[in-house]
Amino acid sequence: MKKRLICLLLYVLPIGVYAQPAAEIFIIPQPVSLEKKGGSFEFNNYSVIEVPDKTPEVQMVARYFAQQLLRASGYPVRVQLSGDAKDSRGTTFAISLNRKEEAALGSEGYTLEVGSSLVILRANKPAGLFYGIQTLLQLFPKEIESLEAIKKGYWTLPGCKITDYPRFAWRGLMLDVSRHFYSKKDVLRFIDDMVKYKFNVLHWHLTDDQGWRIEIKSLPKLTEVGAWRVPRVGRMSRMTPPDADEPRTYGGFYTQEDIREVVQYARDRFVNVMPEIDVPGHSLAALASYPELSCTPGTYRVNSGEKFMEWPAGGGHFYGLIDNTLCPANEKVYDFLDKVFAEVAPLFPFEYIHMGGDETARNFWEKSEAVKALMNKEKLKNLDEVQSYFVKRVEKIIESKGKKLMGWDEILEGGLPPNAVVMSWRGEKGGIEAAKQNHKVVMSPTTYAYLDYNQGDPYIEPPIYASLRLNKTYQFDPVPAGVDPKMILGGQANLWTEQLPGIRSAQYMMWPRGFAIAESVWSPKEKKIWPDFVTRVEKQFERLDMAQTKYARTIYDPIITAKKGEGNEIIIEMKGEIDGLDIYYSFDETHPDNFYPKYTVPLTIPKDALNLKVITYRRGKLMGRQIDLPIAELKKRAGVK
Ligand code: ACM
Repeated sequence: MKKRLICLLLYVLPIGVYAQPAAEIFIIPQPVSLEKKGGSFEFNNYSVIEVPDKTPEVQMVARYFAQQLLRASGYPVRVQLSGDAKDSRGTTFAISLNRKEEAALGSEGYTLEVGSSLVILRANKPAGLFYGIQTLLQLFPKEIESLEAIKKGYWTLPGCKITDYPRFAWRGLMLDVSRHFYSKKDVLRFIDDMVKYKFNVLHWHLTDDQGWRIEIKSLPKLTEVGAWRVPRVGRMSRMTPPDADEPRTYGGFYTQEDIREVVQYARDRFVNVMPEIDVPGHSLAALASYPELSCTPGTYRVNSGEKFMEWPAGGGHFYGLIDNTLCPANEKVYDFLDKVFAEVAPLFPFEYIHMGGDETARNFWEKSEAVKALMNKEKLKNLDEVQSYFVKRVEKIIESKGKKLMGWDEILEGGLPPNAVVMSWRGEKGGIEAAKQNHKVVMSPTTYAYLDYNQGDPYIEPPIYASLRLNKTYQFDPVPAGVDPKMILGGQANLWTEQLPGIRSAQYMMWPRGFAIAESVWSPKEKKIWPDFVTRVEKQFERLDMAQTKYARTIYDPIITAKKGEGNEIIIEMKGEIDGLDIYYSFDETHPDNFYPKYTVPLTIPKDALNLKVITYRRGKLMGRQIDLPIAELKKRAGVK
């Protein structure tokens, strides 16, 4: 009894005698409400995680937390029931579901209170507890992200009170595993990283011209043939075409067992996985396996990076140099899709299946007698209506498997099927139009959310046709002006991997722009403040370093523009993407540092100069990479011959 009393006293008394000054708080995404309270909590070798009962999902969240703590601290933190004896030297993380639901928190919100000896985390549902844990982990010192145990003695968390819940239910990231194959281990790591920032949908782009990545047992050639291509490095769509007998050794696929494992791993982290089977375009890998599904007889190969499409400047439909589409006028195609979706649907518990529908080249349909006959029979006036006919049939198949259809915004063309959900990527207009037609929408516009676009100076970044810096990404608002917010499920960033041959390069493109998307889909709009966000981003960089996650430091690289002056001279302007950077430069072929000329006013190019070299510092500390721009590149930017 006496022992219990002592325990109880220690439990409620602050053990702040050796407390450190409270650390600053830098959470991404920014919580709805955050109150700093002074004082601090200490996690040590005697701390415990306490749960009120054996509710499996609460236990699961508690164990997840214990594992993170063990990994970084080496302390085997016990998960125990409330009321069980504690070591008086320890502190307590108390995790529980609200007995009476707090309406404002919804199913993913939580409250978190960090006191001197007790952390209290509460939520209506286990998902809320999971997000509370993510916030709690961000209150720890950065070493909590370490992949190996760091013996620190004790760890200090700042006292605070947080109430938090998401702005949107759909907080997605798309990973394209077709253009480059990502192993199951890489995908699991991707999930680990996304949940730290409270993303909850993994859109898994499983098929495309460069590879079919999901085992379909009734159609074995899809992975025997369709998952493999000739290895190439360089720039996608400009690579050397394969020789006829060149070995097809690059690729891979996920067995159905792999898929189940990934889906379960994601579920345990409150992530829904949405598969995408991209049809009728982007289907070369399927056609390489089953050429009879094309309108255009021939043999097909999985694309290895050689050019096979024309991307018309200024918009319009894509033009295939070879036919990479499934034939909408061929009944075998619908039998094929029935088989595919019959196997896909049970593997993914999520309610949606994405059917792609984007960038369909129709020039071969135009010439096809079968398509002409279909148009006559079905009274289809044009190729938009042919595509719409196809999408409607796919919707019926997907619905017959108990799922709902989602597609890229091209599925609007020729008329949407009755229940389709639209993912708006070509800007916001598709989403606006779909919402007007009373269809639900996920916004993932290129304007803000295409993380395959380069994020720094295009001259030194991986090659791609467009730019999207962090500050622009941060302006993402999933609800376009004039649209009823109820129609918007949420937002998503897309990581196409044409130029991303492995997980390190994918991470580089994902972070920090993923932070900007995370905050855009989770935090209240009015809590998004760019300078404050930048401070938090820089703190997160330290955590990514601990976690050995790659990220881009392009916010430290200056934005360099060149324009034509009145006398045809080139005028160069430079500015930092973030405040507080000093830019130094040289034209004399030597490497600048912070004793070189500092950029203050627009520059002109000295006669005979070969390169502009630029570097940034902040308060005397090197920040950016050296960027070397040939004068020819500056001329190009200025539009000067
Ligand atoms: C897309 O980016 N083609 C959806």
